[in-house]
Amino acid sequence: MVKKKTCVFISGNGSNLKNLISNSRNSNFPVKISLVISNNKSAYGINYAKKNKIPYIFINTKIQNYENKIFLNLKKYGISFICLAGYMKIISTKLIRDYRKKIINIHPSLLPKFKGLNTFQRILKNKEKKTGCTVHYVNENLDSGTIISQKSFDILINDNENTLRKKTQRLEYSVFPQAIIKIFRYN
Ligand code: GRF
Repeated sequence: MVKKKTCVFISGNGSNLKNLISNSRNSNFPVKISLVISNNKSAYGINYAKKNKIPYIFINTKIQNYENKIFLNLKKYGISFICLAGYMKIISTKLIRDYRKKIINIHPSLLPKFKGLNTFQRILKNKEKKTGCTVHYVNENLDSGTIISQKSFDILINDNENTLRKKTQRLEYSVFPQAIIKIFRYN
Protein backbone atom coordinates (compact mmCIF):
# COMPACT_ATOMS: atom_id res chain seq x y z
CA MET A 1 0.00 0.00 0.00
CA VAL A 2 1.28 3.45 -0.91
CA LYS A 3 0.55 5.64 2.07
CA LYS A 4 -0.64 9.21 1.55
CA LYS A 5 1.92 11.72 2.75
CA THR A 6 0.07 13.62 5.43
CA CYS A 7 0.67 16.84 7.34
CA VAL A 8 -0.83 17.34 10.79
CA PHE A 9 -1.49 20.92 11.94
CA ILE A 10 -1.40 21.48 15.71
CA SER A 11 -1.39 24.33 18.22
CA GLY A 12 -1.12 22.63 21.60
CA ASN A 13 -0.87 19.30 23.37
CA GLY A 14 -0.86 17.13 20.28
CA SER A 15 -2.40 14.05 21.86
CA ASN A 16 -4.31 13.40 18.62
CA LEU A 17 -1.06 13.81 16.68
CA LYS A 18 0.56 11.24 19.00
CA ASN A 19 -2.33 8.87 18.38
CA LEU A 20 -2.19 9.32 14.60
CA ILE A 21 1.55 8.70 14.57
CA SER A 22 1.05 5.51 16.50
CA ASN A 23 -1.77 4.36 14.17
CA SER A 24 0.37 5.13 11.13
CA ARG A 25 2.91 2.53 12.26
CA ASN A 26 0.36 -0.08 11.24
CA SER A 27 1.17 -1.15 7.68
CA ASN A 28 -2.54 -1.11 6.79
CA PHE A 29 -3.12 2.45 7.95
CA PRO A 30 -3.54 4.57 4.80
CA VAL A 31 -1.47 7.62 5.79
CA LYS A 32 2.08 8.39 6.83
CA ILE A 33 2.65 11.47 8.98
CA SER A 34 5.34 13.22 6.93
CA LEU A 35 5.16 16.75 8.33
CA VAL A 36 3.88 18.58 11.40
CA ILE A 37 3.00 22.28 11.28
CA SER A 38 2.47 24.29 14.44
CA ASN A 39 1.53 27.94 14.78
CA ASN A 40 2.80 27.83 18.34
CA LYS A 41 6.50 27.49 19.16
CA SER A 42 5.82 26.05 22.58
CA ALA A 43 3.19 23.52 21.50
CA TYR A 44 3.87 20.36 23.52
CA GLY A 45 2.84 18.27 20.53
CA ILE A 46 6.07 19.20 18.71
CA ASN A 47 7.80 16.71 21.01
CA TYR A 48 5.95 13.86 19.30
CA ALA A 49 7.31 15.00 15.95
CA LYS A 50 10.85 15.22 17.39
CA LYS A 51 10.63 11.85 19.10
CA ASN A 52 9.45 10.18 15.90
CA LYS A 53 11.89 12.06 13.63
CA ILE A 54 9.07 13.68 11.70
CA PRO A 55 9.95 17.04 10.10
CA TYR A 56 8.18 19.95 11.78
CA ILE A 57 7.92 23.66 11.16
CA PHE A 58 6.57 26.68 12.97
CA ILE A 59 4.34 29.16 11.25
CA ASN A 60 4.07 32.66 12.61
CA THR A 61 0.57 33.58 11.51
CA LYS A 62 1.23 37.22 12.41
CA ILE A 63 3.69 37.57 9.57
CA GLN A 64 2.43 38.61 6.15
CA ASN A 65 2.66 35.84 3.57
CA TYR A 66 3.01 33.15 6.21
CA GLU A 67 0.84 31.05 3.94
CA ASN A 68 3.60 30.89 1.36
CA LYS A 69 5.70 29.07 3.93
CA ILE A 70 2.87 26.58 4.42
CA PHE A 71 2.49 26.00 0.67
CA LEU A 72 6.23 25.68 0.08
CA ASN A 73 6.56 23.09 2.82
CA LEU A 74 3.50 21.11 1.76
CA LYS A 75 5.10 20.94 -1.70
CA LYS A 76 8.57 20.16 -0.39
CA TYR A 77 7.28 17.16 1.57
CA GLY A 78 4.87 15.97 -1.15
CA ILE A 79 1.84 16.36 1.13
CA SER A 80 -1.48 15.20 -0.34
CA PHE A 81 -3.62 15.03 2.81
CA ILE A 82 -3.99 17.32 5.85
CA CYS A 83 -5.32 16.63 9.34
CA LEU A 84 -6.16 19.50 11.67
CA ALA A 85 -5.71 18.24 15.21
CA GLY A 86 -6.31 21.01 17.69
CA TYR A 87 -5.14 23.69 15.24
CA MET A 88 -6.55 26.95 16.58
CA LYS A 89 -6.25 29.07 13.43
CA ILE A 90 -8.55 29.52 10.48
CA ILE A 91 -7.31 27.85 7.31
CA SER A 92 -7.11 30.17 4.28
CA THR A 93 -9.55 29.91 1.40
CA LYS A 94 -6.64 29.26 -0.97
CA LEU A 95 -5.46 26.25 1.03
CA ILE A 96 -9.02 24.94 1.27
CA ARG A 97 -9.44 25.29 -2.51
CA ASP A 98 -6.09 23.70 -3.33
CA TYR A 99 -6.75 20.80 -0.95
CA ARG A 100 -10.50 20.47 -1.50
CA LYS A 101 -11.77 17.33 0.30
CA LYS A 102 -8.22 16.65 1.43
CA ILE A 103 -8.31 18.54 4.72
CA ILE A 104 -10.10 17.07 7.72
CA ASN A 105 -10.63 18.37 11.23
CA ILE A 106 -11.62 16.85 14.55
CA HIS A 107 -14.10 18.81 16.63
CA PRO A 108 -15.14 18.07 20.23
CA SER A 109 -18.92 18.12 19.77
CA LEU A 110 -21.67 16.42 17.84
CA LEU A 111 -21.64 18.76 14.85
CA PRO A 112 -23.62 20.63 13.62
CA LYS A 113 -24.17 21.39 17.29
CA PHE A 114 -21.65 23.62 19.08
CA LYS A 115 -19.39 24.81 16.31
CA GLY A 116 -16.48 27.02 17.38
CA LEU A 117 -14.81 27.47 20.75
CA ASN A 118 -15.74 26.78 24.41
CA THR A 119 -17.74 23.75 23.39
CA PHE A 120 -17.87 21.95 26.77
CA GLN A 121 -18.99 25.07 28.59
CA ARG A 122 -21.82 25.60 26.11
CA ILE A 123 -22.81 21.91 26.09
CA LEU A 124 -23.23 21.96 29.88
CA LYS A 125 -25.06 25.28 29.85
CA ASN A 126 -27.46 23.91 27.28
CA LYS A 127 -28.13 20.83 29.45
CA GLU A 128 -27.37 18.40 26.63
CA LYS A 129 -27.99 14.71 27.31
CA LYS A 130 -25.31 13.50 24.92
CA THR A 131 -22.10 14.76 23.43
CA GLY A 132 -19.18 13.37 21.47
CA CYS A 133 -16.79 14.23 18.68
CA THR A 134 -16.90 14.67 14.93
CA VAL A 135 -14.40 14.33 12.10
CA HIS A 136 -15.39 16.42 9.09
CA TYR A 137 -13.99 17.81 5.86
CA VAL A 138 -12.86 21.41 6.09
CA ASN A 139 -14.67 23.89 3.87
CA GLU A 140 -14.94 27.67 3.83
CA ASN A 141 -17.29 27.80 6.81
CA LEU A 142 -16.14 27.05 10.34
CA ASP A 143 -16.81 23.44 11.46
CA SER A 144 -19.36 23.04 8.67
CA GLY A 145 -17.90 20.61 6.11
CA THR A 146 -19.33 17.17 5.35
CA ILE A 147 -19.22 14.85 8.33
CA ILE A 148 -17.09 11.72 7.95
CA SER A 149 -17.42 10.06 11.38
CA GLN A 150 -19.07 10.89 14.65
CA LYS A 151 -19.42 9.11 17.99
CA SER A 152 -21.37 10.04 21.09
CA PHE A 153 -21.64 9.24 24.79
CA ASP A 154 -24.18 10.05 27.49
CA ILE A 155 -23.53 13.04 29.73
CA LEU A 156 -23.82 12.13 33.41
CA ILE A 157 -25.27 14.33 36.11
CA ASN A 158 -21.87 14.96 37.74
CA ASP A 159 -19.95 15.64 34.53
CA ASN A 160 -18.07 18.93 34.33
CA GLU A 161 -15.92 20.59 31.65
CA ASN A 162 -12.89 18.52 32.65
CA THR A 163 -14.60 15.15 32.62
CA LEU A 164 -16.32 15.97 29.33
CA ARG A 165 -12.98 16.95 27.80
CA LYS A 166 -11.36 13.70 28.94
CA LYS A 167 -14.23 11.51 27.76
CA THR A 168 -14.40 13.33 24.43
CA GLN A 169 -10.67 13.01 23.84
CA ARG A 170 -10.73 9.30 24.63
CA LEU A 171 -13.36 8.94 21.93
CA GLU A 172 -11.35 11.08 19.51
CA TYR A 173 -8.48 8.60 19.63
CA SER A 174 -10.67 5.99 17.96
CA VAL A 175 -12.82 8.24 15.76
CA PHE A 176 -9.97 10.16 14.06
CA PRO A 177 -8.10 7.09 12.76
CA GLN A 178 -11.39 5.39 11.85
CA ALA A 179 -12.41 8.41 9.77
CA ILE A 180 -9.08 8.29 7.89
CA ILE A 181 -9.51 4.58 7.19
CA LYS A 182 -13.05 5.25 6.00
CA ILE A 183 -11.91 7.98 3.57
CA PHE A 184 -9.27 5.88 1.88
CA ARG A 185 -11.20 2.64 1.82
CA TYR A 186 -13.14 4.01 -1.14
CA ASN A 187 -10.33 5.92 -2.87
C1 GRF B 1 -9.17 18.07 20.57
O1 GRF B 1 -10.03 17.84 21.63
C2 GRF B 1 -9.92 18.46 19.32
O2 GRF B 1 -11.23 18.03 19.32
C3 GRF B 1 -9.91 19.95 19.33
O3 GRF B 1 -8.70 20.31 19.96
C4 GRF B 1 -8.28 19.28 20.84
C5 GRF B 1 -6.84 19.02 20.56
O4 GRF B 1 -6.24 18.19 21.50
N1 GRF B 1 -10.05 20.46 18.00
P1 GRF B 1 -4.78 17.63 21.26
O5 GRF B 1 -3.88 18.82 20.98
O6 GRF B 1 -4.83 16.68 20.11
O7 GRF B 1 -4.40 16.95 22.55
